[in-house]
Amino acid sequence: MAINTISSSFPRLFLVCALACLCSLKALGFASEGRETIEKNLLHHTHTVQVSSLLPSTICTPSTKGPHRKGSLKVVHKNGPCSQLNQDKTKIPTDVEILEQDQLRAEFIQYSRHSKRLGGKVLRRKSESKGSANIPANLGRSFRTNNYIVTVGLGTPKRSLTLAFDTGSDLTWTQCQPCAGSCYDQDDVIFNPSHSSTYTNITCSSPLCSQLLSATGNRPACSSSTCVYGVLYGDRSFSLGFFGKEKLTLTDKDVFQNFLFGCGQDNEGLFGAIAGLLGLGRDKFSLVEQTANRYGRIFSYCLPSTSSSTGHLTFGEGSDKASKAIKFSPFSKSYSKSSFYGLDLLGIRVAGNKLAIPPSVFSTAGLVIDSGTTLTYLPPTVYNALRTAFRQAMKNYTMGEPFSILDTCYDFSSRKTVYIPRIVFSFSGGVDVEVDKSGVLLVRNLSQVCLAFTGNKNANDTAIFGNTQQKTLEVVYDVGRSRIGFAPGGC
Ligand SMILES: *[C@@H]1O[C@H](CO)[C@@H](O)[C@H](O)[C@H]1NC(C)=O
Ligand SMILES: *[C@@H]1O[C@H](CO)[C@@H](O)[C@H](O)[C@H]1NC(C)=O
Ligand SMILES: *[C@@H]1O[C@H](CO)[C@@H](O)[C@H](O)[C@H]1NC(C)=O
Ligand SMILES: *[C@@H]1O[C@H](CO)[C@@H](O)[C@H](O)[C@H]1NC(C)=O
Repeated sequence: MAINTISSSFPRLFLVCALACLCSLKALGFASEGRETIEKNLLHHTHTVQVSSLLPSTICTPSTKGPHRKGSLKVVHKNGPCSQLNQDKTKIPTDVEILEQDQLRAEFIQYSRHSKRLGGKVLRRKSESKGSANIPANLGRSFRTNNYIVTVGLGTPKRSLTLAFDTGSDLTWTQCQPCAGSCYDQDDVIFNPSHSSTYTNITCSSPLCSQLLSATGNRPACSSSTCVYGVLYGDRSFSLGFFGKEKLTLTDKDVFQNFLFGCGQDNEGLFGAIAGLLGLGRDKFSLVEQTANRYGRIFSYCLPSTSSSTGHLTFGEGSDKASKAIKFSPFSKSYSKSSFYGLDLLGIRVAGNKLAIPPSVFSTAGLVIDSGTTLTYLPPTVYNALRTAFRQAMKNYTMGEPFSILDTCYDFSSRKTVYIPRIVFSFSGGVDVEVDKSGVLLVRNLSQVCLAFTGNKNANDTAIFGNTQQKTLEVVYDVGRSRIGFAPGGC
């Protein structure tokens, strides 16, 4: 290829000279050394991926790390073989639906960035624009993209509940009997507060009730003196019910009396078979804040490389030696008033080459790290540069049809092994995070394997570091010290 270009655009004499020079270099032993260097560089800047490994197995192979630590819960993908949810397969969203929902969630995060808190919405089914910062009707964090689940215990006696965990929201909720409005089908038995000796309603007059506004974005309501919460999602899913407190059991040794949560009486939408949501955001009612005395506002997780393996969600400081490898980046000051976790992205490298993007492009957009968004969303010029560099490094491969919002797809159906460029995010504090090879591509099938990144519409829309790119990383949220740490090989 290179020779062709040279010979067509340069005089023949040049080619002869170039060959002669090469020969004399070879005589001196340079050429083979050069080739070795090139090969070494190639390995250094690319991942080797067995094409067969791109498709998830139908058998669960649990991780041997993580869950053995104290304060640690097993994390699995909602729809994979490690999930014990017995789901109606026809209700599992398609890949196209997941990507559509993902965009709604991204838009919601972007919308929320500049409104201090999502406050002001009066809790009514179809609320009119009376509040100070109403969310457009079709906007809201989408629930269905929250694909990672954990199992916790609630009440006395303890009932097991499978919840999606979400760093992008605060209030934990589960469906509750008697389902005064309605409940969707869930796999676990629906929690019944009247069968638990430790459940208490929060009253409307309690100061806790009025604080719901910042945790849910909706003003609480009141029903026979019991405080009523409501959370709405972008796909018009919602949960509405009594604000209560209850005994929460994370592990046998990690039990919290008086955990504040939503006991959902009217829950509608496409939640799948899960029992509700575990909120890990920055607001006062998130699990992180409610357990601050025990865990010191630190939690970490590792999202598994495929839906047929497992990861962990761990509360408190990890005690294993791996914690030495963790590099911390400070929270971004731009998000200090937000419920989201923001970081300052300074640059991106693809196959060892830094994308030529002025730092102001990154700082204008800002970046949020989120466990519930599937893709990584970048400012338009950054995405274009990433895509160009990626396509350049992948020019050996046949491109496939674009897939939904993913425009850089490859047909690997006739390949056994492929080499994909390494992608490294540089965050402030000198923290370089290399995306694992399981986090670069999104696989629809072997003829549609796509770069799992997309571009935002506007240059000032927040970038989002999504959950695909976080796979296998140990991600440590040290909220007390306002920093997030990363290390490879967390699962
Ligand atoms: C909580 O409040 C609701 C509404 O007032 C009521 O129906 C329910 O019985 C209360 N539950 C408990 C355990 O007090
Ligand atoms: C492209 O393909 C050729 C021939 O199969 C191979 O030698 C070369 O290493 C490949 N380049 C990359 C970047 O994968
Ligand atoms: C991949 O999916 C597309 C769209 O459903 C389909 O047209 C194509 O045949 C599939 N390819 C393989 C290898 O299954
Ligand atoms: C973001 O940019 C768009 C145009 O690209 C502009 O309409 C909008 O007002 C900007 N928003 C903020 C919050 O700066």
